Amino acid sequence: MKALDGIKVLDFTHVQSGPTCTQLLAWLGADVFKVERPGVGDATRKQLVDKPGADSLYFTMLNHNKRSIEINSKNETGKEVLTRLIETCDVLVENFAPGALDRMGFSWETIQKINPRIIVASVKGFGPGKYQDCKVYENVAQCAGGSASTTGFLDGPPLVTGAQIGDSGTGLHLALGIVAALYQRERSGRGQKVLAPMQDGVINLCRVKLRDQQRLEAGPLTEYSQFGEGIPFGEATPRAGNDSGGGQPGRILRCKGWETDPNAYTYFITQAAVWEKVCDVIGKPEWKTDPDFATLKARLPRLNQIFGAIEDWTMTKTKFEVMDICNPLDIPVGPILSMKEIAEDEGLRATGTIVEVEHPERGPYLSVGCPIKMSDSPVEVTRSPLLGEHTAQILAEVLGYSPEEVDRVYRSGAVGEPKTVAAD
Ligand code: COA
Repeated sequence: MKALDGIKVLDFTHVQSGPTCTQLLAWLGADVFKVERPGVGDATRKQLVDKPGADSLYFTMLNHNKRSIEINSKNETGKEVLTRLIETCDVLVENFAPGALDRMGFSWETIQKINPRIIVASVKGFGPGKYQDCKVYENVAQCAGGSASTTGFLDGPPLVTGAQIGDSGTGLHLALGIVAALYQRERSGRGQKVLAPMQDGVINLCRVKLRDQQRLEAGPLTEYSQFGEGIPFGEATPRAGNDSGGGQPGRILRCKGWETDPNAYTYFITQAAVWEKVCDVIGKPEWKTDPDFATLKARLPRLNQIFGAIEDWTMTKTKFEVMDICNPLDIPVGPILSMKEIAEDEGLRATGTIVEVEHPERGPYLSVGCPIKMSDSPVEVTRSPLLGEHTAQILAEVLGYSPEEVDRVYRSGAVGEPKTVAAD
């Protein structure tokens, strides 16, 4: 048994943000029917292709545990099939450009008339307001959500981050809204609209930067490196490089091998509670009692000197040796892991966070499994569906179409060509 067993999801999502959400719902046990345009499918199937003829990793890694049904939503028979799916499903998830669902003839009012219990969940770039009609991709959201202006170094341009906080981050927000709406429906008997704008999701993840914006009114941000460097603060939260973002100063420091290995670095946090242990480890026991270093307040203007001394020590160790030495002393440190190291990490494979999946067109590939571990709702990651692989199955099993009706739907051209499913 899985947490969302019995929940049926009409998955009208594409690219990354929406598919992240519906993949999570599938991992939690929902039956997810991915609706794709006949013969075309989700555009990511054919983006960043590494194996000609096979679905791309972009697609396969975002669409595990789903079934694929081809439907032309602008064809009359296609609309009939969609209407039956809306009647049957608990949740409709979409991340079309603003207005696209309405243009297909499925406004919120129409959907509610068909099934008052359905939850309609949407990702859009922006919430209601002057930008509500814009099409938005990941980096636009990172920029409009305040992340880019606060990422990077003070003397460089704004930076986007590798973590897909606009797309995958918003997918996560949407999934939470959906399960909460399902829970509320238990008591109200009604569905509702759930909207997760990407800008809002990024702003939520940048909460501490808005905290700092307001703290600026009270004076300089003393935990930022620029304070100790005597660089005045401007009107807005500045880019903070690798400063920790919290009350415990931290930095990325070079480790042994940094000259040739771009990832031979560690994150090192000088947590106040373990300051004396830090002094001992780096060979500066005199700093324990020196008034210039003994208190956090005294240390804040001297972060460059302090992290310089710590780095003199970390450069004599590998990033893993730093971890091995500091962990037993409760000094928080973290190695900078490359994607290669993560792919090869046995511990992450053992927990199912990194999984190997078999695919009939691609062969085996690595993916990220479910990052949420539930004791009573285990996850087995299964491969993404081929385009239209389950069209006939969904028409017959889920919607109860007779063989003659299935044949009629195919002949109408609404659901693409019948498929012979590739053997796994
Ligand atoms: N059958 C028939 N038509 C279909 C269809 C189907 N199964 N699925 C999609 N379409 C149509 C849509 O109805 C739309 O037609 P319309 O413009 O005539 O109304 C058309 O395909 C294109 O959809 P759209 O969503 O505009 O795709 P796009 O490729 O132009 O834009 C995004 C892509 C991501 C920019 C846009 O969808 C968007 O802004 N989404 C919301 C924000 C978001 O999620 N962004 C992050 C993506 S990771």
